[in-house]
This record gives sequence, C-alpha cells and structure tokens, in this order.
Amino acid sequence: MKSTLFCLCVAVLVASALGGKNPNLEIRLDSVLNSTGKALTSDDFSEIQFTLYTNTRNTSYPIAEANALLADPAFDAGKPTALYMHGWSESNDSESVGAVSRAFLRRGSHNFVLLDWSEYVKGDYITSFVRCTAAGEAVGAAVNRMVDAGLDRDTFWPIGHSLGGQLSGVMAKSLDFKPSRITALDPAGPGFNLPGIPSLTRDDAVVVDVIHTDAGVSGSSSNDATIDFWPNGGTRPQPGCNVGETKLAEALLYCGHRRSWEFFAESVNDETAFPAVSCRSWSAFKKGLCPANDSNVVYMGFPAPGAYLTGTFYLRTGPEEPFGLGVDGARPDSGENLDATTTTDASVTDAPTTVWATTEAPTTEWPSTEVPITEAPTTSNAPITNAPTTNAPITNAPITNAPITNAPITNAPITNAPITNAPITNAPITNAPITNAPTTNANSVVSQCAAEAASNGLARWLTVIVCGSPSESQTSA
Ligand SMILES: *[C@@H]1O[C@H](CO)[C@@H](O)[C@H](O)[C@H]1NC(C)=O
Ligand SMILES: *[C@@H]1O[C@H](CO)[C@@H](O)[C@H](O)[C@H]1NC(C)=O
Ligand SMILES: *[C@@H]1O[C@H](CO)[C@@H](O)[C@H](O)[C@H]1NC(C)=O
Ligand SMILES: *[C@@H]1O[C@H](CO)[C@@H](O)[C@H](O)[C@H]1NC(C)=O
Repeated sequence: MKSTLFCLCVAVLVASALGGKNPNLEIRLDSVLNSTGKALTSDDFSEIQFTLYTNTRNTSYPIAEANALLADPAFDAGKPTALYMHGWSESNDSESVGAVSRAFLRRGSHNFVLLDWSEYVKGDYITSFVRCTAAGEAVGAAVNRMVDAGLDRDTFWPIGHSLGGQLSGVMAKSLDFKPSRITALDPAGPGFNLPGIPSLTRDDAVVVDVIHTDAGVSGSSSNDATIDFWPNGGTRPQPGCNVGETKLAEALLYCGHRRSWEFFAESVNDETAFPAVSCRSWSAFKKGLCPANDSNVVYMGFPAPGAYLTGTFYLRTGPEEPFGLGVDGARPDSGENLDATTTTDASVTDAPTTVWATTEAPTTEWPSTEVPITEAPTTSNAPITNAPTTNAPITNAPITNAPITNAPITNAPITNAPITNAPITNAPITNAPITNAPTTNANSVVSQCAAEAASNGLARWLTVIVCGSPSESQTSA
C-alpha cells in the first residue's frame, strides 16, 4: 500500500511537472505509460459496459452490443437518455452511481444508462488518465452506432464525474453530432492541462455545464464550460468538510469532490434548490455585488440550461443534505456580506416564490459567446480589482515527500598545468555528507489517513490525491 502510494505520488508529480514541459520528466512519464499494459487504443475497450437502470433490474450490454440496449423492453425511446460516466476507481458499486441513478429513477423522466468503464480505471490514476483519450473514442463510436440505430441524439445527455467528466468531453469529439448538453461534475484536473491532452471544453456541446467543488486538487480549476458553477467558491473545504465536521480521511480526500454529484443528485428532484448568480468572482459574490434578479440566475444541476446565460455562477450551500438553500444560497451569508448594505436586492429577500429562470428546454441555439457580466451598481465601494476566478486559498493536504535519492557526486579530476617550481599539492576535496531531512510528520499523517481511508472503504485514488498533491495546488492530485 505504502509503495503504491509512493509510486502514485511520483506519477502525479511527474504529470504535474510536465506542465512545465521538462523533457526528462516526459521520458519518465513515457516509461510509466509503457508499463501499464492493455487498453491504450480504442480497439481494446471490449469490457466497457452500457448498463440500463430500472427499478427492478439493471441490464448490462457490452460496448460492442450497445445497440441492443435500445431494444431492451425497459428502454423508452420517447424519453431522453442520460449517460452517466463514473470517475477514476469508481464502478457500478460506487456511491455516486447509486445516488445519481436513484435520483433519475425516482424522477422517471429519462432512460438512465451507466457507462461502466471500471475495468479501465481501477489501476493507478496515470494509467486511467492516459486511457481516457482512447476510451472516449471507443465510447463515441458506440454512441454513433446507437444514434444510427435510433437513439435520439437531440436529447442524449452525457453526465460525467471526475475522470468521467473529462471522458464525456473526449467522447463528444468523436461524435457525428454536437450534443445539446454535457454536464461535468468536478471534472478531473490532474494532467488535463498538459499540451495535446484532449479534455472537456465548452465547444463539446451546445451547453456545457460544470459544477466545481474541489478545484485545484481533484478537480479542474478553469472555466471549461459555457456555464461554470462555483458553489461555495468551488474549492475545498466545502461546507461540512472541515476536519472535525467529518472524518479525517473524508475531510482530506473525498469530501469536496463528492459534493459535485451530491449537489447534482439533489437537484434532479429539487430543481429550485440551487439558484446561482452570475458574478465575476466568489469574492464579489460574497461582498453582495451580484444581487440575484430575474435575469442573472441559473439553477445549478439538473435544470441548468433552462436559462439563456453563460459565464460563471456562484452560490452557497448548506453543510449537509439537503444541501440546497434555495434563494438564501443565491446571496452572501450575512456574516460575510460586510459591505452590502446597499446592494442586497430586496426582491431576493421578499420573493422566495419567484421563478427566476425558465426550466424549459431552449428552442433556439444559445449564444456561444459569453454574456458580459455587468457589475451591480454600488454606492459605497471603491473600484474592485478584478479577482482571478479561483478565489479562496486552497488548503493543501499534507504531501508525502518521496525519499530523495542523491546521485553520487563525481568530482572531475583536476588537471594542473605543469609548473616548473615546486609541485602543487591539491587539498583533498571533502564532500559534506548529505543529510536527508526526515519526513516523519507527513508520513504519519498519510499513514493515518490511508489507514482510515482503508477502514472506511474509501477509494485508493483519493488517498493518493492527498498524498500526491504537489505544493502547487493548481495541478495536484
Ligand atoms: C514506449 O512504447 C513506445 C511504443 O511501443 C516506444 O516507441 C517508446 O520508445 C517506449 N518508450 C519507452 C520509454 O520505453
Ligand atoms: C442497480 O445498481 C445500483 C448500483 O449501481 C444498485 O444500487 C441497485 O440496487 C441496482 N438495482 C437493482 C434492481 O438491482
Ligand atoms: C456491477 O458490475 C459487476 C462486474 O461487472 C457485475 O457483476 C454486477 O452485476 C454489476 N451490478 C450491477 C448492479 O449492475
Ligand atoms: C439584474 O442584475 C444584473 C447584474 O447585476 C443587472 O445588469 C440587470 O440590470 C438586473 N436586471 C434587473 C431586471 O434588475
């Protein structure tokens, strides 16, 4: 376990460092990839399953026979089809799959299909990450065949969590059509900023909506979508995720990342739980500079594309289920709203029954350009400096320091020019002993964390996220 963690830490650090295009690291990455075995081309994904969920049974179809799913008696060709793509180290057994599938079955409005690619993402992160490109092509080809066989492409809706969020975008590039919507739930960050690596972009569907909850650690920290939601600022710790509020391992590993699908699952049956306000930044939102009104709110999650808006949207949530705060979530916490005395929109306070945005599907294509966000007028504030989109400082989990192996130092022989006078005596060169700093503190936290993760059945990859987080928070995990 410990050595696996160590390898993963190195791999993740390599992937992160590659952002700097260090050719030595690139070679090391290459050798890691070469040792990973199967499934690096799209022909190798025969063990991917499309699983149709119903209340009475789940029926799996291998990717090569995915068309047969359309003939399943439980498949309703009159309904839209949601294709849920799980993340790294997840499977049909994962909590996210259970929660999202239950929410869709309860709602009953969609065919719910799980894209089960667990066979290809149960190893280390970097192997799974590399497979994402070819897996996306394989899944895209299968979906093209399903569309040819009658799947309604206009209502086909890929939804992906973490690595599955990136897979949804990679897959979309292989489709013969542009999906009307892709939803990504904290799409994976590490590695996807590398040059030449396909990832989810806002061009992959007419509407791409992303819920960011662990940006910069497990999740992507960029505005990848047409609609980017940044609940509670989009970074860890999410409310309820602090050490003390939840188990240590949960706090350090999972908690923020899983909020993305927890929020989404809640929204499937409670469409008005998560109103979010168009705003330039989390700090501007918290200052009350972006009061909600009929034209600047989008509901996060299931109903998101009902509004003809693009850009970045902010909201607050509660610390536990049900997470949605309704209209309260669309305005700053009163404790944080330090200088908003003149900026809180009265209509938000007084009109909890107001429906801010239609939840009906759009009948025309939405503008592909971003709607400019106009700052709310304020009477007392100094001009605001434009804050970067990631606002809250990211708290890095403890990092396991890999033992440092010092290469032996070879002293070049010193050649003295011939000297006619007395011979020169060279002083012996003494190399100071190299002392490696002990790493006991971080290791003990990791051991504690890993032990707790194991005892709670938490996924190994997230253990690695913590242990592997480089100190630059933007690319860790
Ligand atoms: C990895 O495999 C590829 C293709 O087989 C090969 O061209 C490349 O040299 C290998 N790289 C390493 C570091 O072994
Ligand atoms: C279908 O699979 C989910 C887990 O993915 C499980 O919770 C559910 O009980 C299964 N349904 C049936 C009818 O077996
Ligand atoms: C989950 O996947 C396993 C392995 O493929 C399979 O045996 C099992 O039937 C699946 N369960 C559901 C509920 O689909
Ligand atoms: C809603 O808020 C936006 C942004 O603050 C503002 O530009 C717009 O005028 C407001 N609309 C209404 C109807 O108040």
